[in-house]
This record gives sequence, structure tokens and C-alpha cells, in this order.
Amino acid sequence: MRFQEIIHSFIGAFGENLFWYAAFAFPFFIVFWWLGKQYFKKIRIQTVERANNHHFKHDFAFSVSSMLIFSVMDICFLFLESKGYTKIYFGLADYGWGWIIASFFIALVVDDTFFYWSHRLMHHPRFYRFFHKVHHESTDPSPLTAYAFHPSEAVVEAMANFILPFLLPINFWVIIAWQIYSMFNNVIGHLGYEIYPKYWVTTPILQFKTTSTHHNMHHQLFNGNYALYFTWWDKWMGTEFKDYKTRHQQIFEREENPTTTTNTGAVNVKATVFGTTHSFTANADQTLLESALAQGVPLPYSCQKGRCGMCKMKCTEGKVHLKSHRALTDAELDEGYILTCQSLPQTPEIALQN
Ligand code: FES
Ligand SMILES: [Zn+2]
Ligand SMILES: [Zn+2]
Repeated sequence: MRFQEIIHSFIGAFGENLFWYAAFAFPFFIVFWWLGKQYFKKIRIQTVERANNHHFKHDFAFSVSSMLIFSVMDICFLFLESKGYTKIYFGLADYGWGWIIASFFIALVVDDTFFYWSHRLMHHPRFYRFFHKVHHESTDPSPLTAYAFHPSEAVVEAMANFILPFLLPINFWVIIAWQIYSMFNNVIGHLGYEIYPKYWVTTPILQFKTTSTHHNMHHQLFNGNYALYFTWWDKWMGTEFKDYKTRHQQIFEREENPTTTTNTGAVNVKATVFGTTHSFTANADQTLLESALAQGVPLPYSCQKGRCGMCKMKCTEGKVHLKSHRALTDAELDEGYILTCQSLPQTPEIALQN
């Protein structure tokens, strides 16, 4: 390939990747997160909305960067394909229709297995920061989050698509169908609203397909529900959240009026989250995060166990008792950072900032 051809192919591949990303993510974002926001409120997975412009811009920027990475990989793939190294074929009848259907499902199972294990590995503290932290910036994900990857994670995510055609004879249209389904599944997994019906998680065969709640809980709670298309790896490995099915069904049983909690303590908290200040009253025997969420205040969080650091905020006034601070560095502690999921209030006035 000459240099000009490479540039030309790259621009074409980037345009195509951007088009497909926009074609899936934008309509769902516009319908669920903007125009139909009130209408779809009843099927919102997280009742407290924590996503804001910061997350939307962040996720969109990293998604464009992922499309660049995918395009580079596409060019490498096309080059190897032109040299005859892959097993891609074009005639629909070459291996029969049975193989067309079988190879599509094999691709999904291989992709799902690769995703589950690589995803778990990227959650290992040694790798998390370098690969996967960017994707977890949104703990209340939107369709724009679907491809918000650090460049290193984008390479990992594209690996199954890249490698499988070298190992199996696979029809060109099967690859296209697999990619389209993958994009659709990914956007629905980050939709923030549950579109799978209530009976889905209790019906014998259907329950093995992941719902929107499945991946949403992964973003919210961090250590569980790692899978992509199917629930079986999480079930076999014991990583499915125990209350997954209950949470899914509660969405359809939720009453119109949200519950409120009565606070007995009189701790006044002002929390500035991405430039917006929220006031709430904290309970002395609850963590700041628990009090905030009970009152619908959108503080950032994910694991709620003091592990991920997503709830980190700077305490600019007042004092708290930190039950655990292992997700903070010594320098952060010295600067006054706390983990709201681990902080019990110690003074009547507290001010926080992220
Ligand atoms: S939410 Fe993960 S450390 Fe607090
Ligand atoms: Zn993850
Ligand atoms: Zn995700």
C-alpha cells in the first residue's frame, strides 16, 4: 500500500466508524436522555440522575478517540486481508447457510468470553488505571458511554473482532451483522433505561441474555456483572450481583413517589459537584454518600466499598471520620480528600467539592 492509499483508507474507515457510532448512540441519547426524558422516567434504572455535561463531553471525546483506534486497526486488518491471511469468504453458499448461522453465534460466544475475562483483568488494581478507569468515569452511563475507552482499552476491545477471522472461516456479512449487533447491544447496555420487559430475567432461556440493568449495575456498583451479551460467565464465576434480578424487577414496580428518609442528625452538608452546589442534611450514623443518595443528591460513586475512589471529594470545611481510605494516596489525604462512601460526619457543618 502506498502512503496516500493508507491515508485515504484511514479517512474512509474513520468516517465509517464515526457514522455507525453516531447512528446508534445519538438517536438513543436524544430520545431517552433529552426529548423523552420525562416520559421514560418510570423505566430509569438509577433513580438519582448523576450524569451531567461533564460526563457527556468526556464520553463523547473518548468515543471519538476509540473510533480513531478502531480505524487504525481496520487498516491493519484490511492490509492482512489483502495479503490473504484471513479466512474471510464472500459467497453466502460457500460453506452453507447452516455455517452462516452457526458462525454468527460462535462469534458472539467467543466475543462474550473474551470480553468477560479481559474485562475482569482490567479491573485488577494493577491494570485498572491504565486501561479501564476512563470507561468508569460515568457511574450513571448514557449511550455516549458505550465506546468511551482509554486508547489502550480500545485496542483490547477490538481484539476479538480482529483475531477471529484469522482462525475461523467467516462470511463477510456475518462480520458486518456481528458488528452491528455488538454496537446495538453496547448502546442498550449503557442506555440508563430498562427496555427489556419484567419477565425477561425470570424466563428460562431469556435470562441468559444481559439486560440494560445488568451492565448499568456494573457501572454503578463496580465489582460484578462483567459480561457483555450473556449472563452465564457471571453466573458460573459467582460475579453476578445477588440483587440483579430484584433490581431489574423493581424498576417495573416502582411507585410514582420516591421514598424519603428521615434524618435524625443535624449535619448540614454543602457538596459542589462539577460546579453545581447541592445542600442536604446528613445523618451522623450514616456515611455522607448514604445520606446524599437517600435525598436524591447526585454525588459521584461506584463501588460504595472504599475500593474504586470514584466518590473522592475534597472536604473544604468540617471533619469526617474515614472508615477506610485505601483508595486514596497519602498526598490526597494530606490535601483533604475523603471518600464519601466511607465518611461519617463529625461536625455540624461540612463542605465538599469534587
Ligand atoms: S464509591 Fe468506590 S470508593 Fe467510594
Ligand atoms: Zn468495568
Ligand atoms: Zn460500560
